[in-house]
Parts: sequence; C-alpha cells; structure tokens
Amino acid sequence: MSVTEEITPVHDVETPPGALIVEPEVRHAAEMWRVARDSKTLDVNSSYAYLVYCRDFARTSRVAVIDGRVVGFVIGHVRPESPHHLFVWQIAVDESARGKGLAGRLLDELFGAVAASDDVHSVETTITDDNEASQKLFASFAKRWQKAPITVDPLFEPAHFPDGHDAEKLYEIGPIFVLDDGIADDARELVATEP
Ligand SMILES: CC(C)(COP(=O)(O)OP(=O)(O)OC[C@H]1O[C@@H](n2cnc3c(N)ncnc32)[C@H](O)[C@@H]1OP(=O)(O)O)[C@@H](O)C(=O)NCCC(=O)NCCS
Repeated sequence: MSVTEEITPVHDVETPPGALIVEPEVRHAAEMWRVARDSKTLDVNSSYAYLVYCRDFARTSRVAVIDGRVVGFVIGHVRPESPHHLFVWQIAVDESARGKGLAGRLLDELFGAVAASDDVHSVETTITDDNEASQKLFASFAKRWQKAPITVDPLFEPAHFPDGHDAEKLYEIGPIFVLDDGIADDARELVATEP
C-alpha cells in the first residue's frame, strides 16, 4: 500500500456522484475566479492570482469538476517559514453543489495528499467571525481527522486592511498524526523538536 493510500480520514464524506477532485491546471483558473466571484462571500482576487496558483501551487490546491465544469476549488500553499503547515487560503463551492460534502472532500483529498508527500501535519486558515459555514466546514474536517485540536487566535485585524475588511482569525488544526507508521513517527519527532 502506498503512503498516500494509508493517509485517509477516519470517516469518508458522501459527495455528489461524478465529482472529480484534481490538481488545477491553468485552464481551470478562469472558472475558479468565477466560483469565487459568485460565492459573494470570498474576497475576489484578481483573475491573475488564480492563474498563479494554478501554475505554481497546483500541488497544494484542488478543483472539483462535474461534467467538465469547475464547481468548487481550494487553493493553498505550504508556508515557506513553517513547512509543517498547509495554509488554506480560499475554498468555495458553487451554490448548486453545496451541502453535499464537496468542500469536505476537497479538504480531505488535499490534506491527505500533502501530508503523505510533505512534512505537513497541520492546516491553517483564516475565517471571519460571521462565516459560520466556513467555521463548521473546518470543525467537521478536524473531527474527521482524528478529532484534531483547533486553536483560534487573532491574525489580521481591521486596521491591517485598507478597505474596511473584517478581522480574519487564524484557525490552526492539528497536529494530525494519521497512523502508527513511519510518517506519523516522523511528524511526532518534528513537533517535539519545533521551537
Ligand atoms: C463554505 C462552503 C465552501 C461549504 O461548501 P459545501 O460543499 O456546502 O460544504 P460541505 O457540504 O462539505 O459541508 C461541510 C460541513 O460544513 C457544514 N456546513 C456547510 N455549509 C454550512 C452552512 N451554510 N451553515 C452551517 N453549516 C454548514 C456542513 O453541515 C458540514 O458539516 P458536517 O460534516 O458536520 O455535516 C460553501 O458554503 C461556500 O462556498 N461558501 C462561500 C465561500 C466561503 O465562505 N468559503 C470559506 C472561506 S475561504
């Protein structure tokens, strides 16, 4: 069994039939921008930003595709200053595909793959206080991954933003030790030696 196959959440989530979760390619970027825009919740980055993520951070991002159409995405990166942390910048699912476990599956597949191939054992994201759907999504992710601990701390305050943006709190989920195997032991060792 490959390491990737071993790293799976305790509970699988039900997802819409036919949904493919894949690494994004440059050709997906315009549709990712559209999903972000239509969410009416996310900050809409420039279309160029999604192109850069598709080109440079595809390994730590995913798109959900149904019938050839992008209906959801997650973009993230391993933090250069903290290689054990996968930072999830944005996740969104088209309204038509919500409530079917798709966002959960995007996170599960992304984290499972990145934890298997990198030194990543924790997820970071930022959430505003009014985004209950996002809070529930990450709480549910933590529960599936061995009831991983979640810490919440201030990160970006309104004064950091030039445009009246709400505060973004930092949610850290982990460390997640998947199995009593080599990877889990490595991760334990790394945490023990972290400053
Ligand atoms: C947040 C979002 C990605 C969730 O997508 P989704 O595919 O519907 O989520 P899932 O079906 O995988 O649900 C995951 C969990 O979150 C919960 N959840 C999802 N939407 C919810 C809502 N509106 N209110 C309360 N809980 C919600 C689900 O009940 C589920 O919990 P469970 O596993 O305990 O049952 C989607 O609502 C969205 O795109 N919102 C706009 C963009 C956004 O706010 N993104 C997050 C900030 S980056």
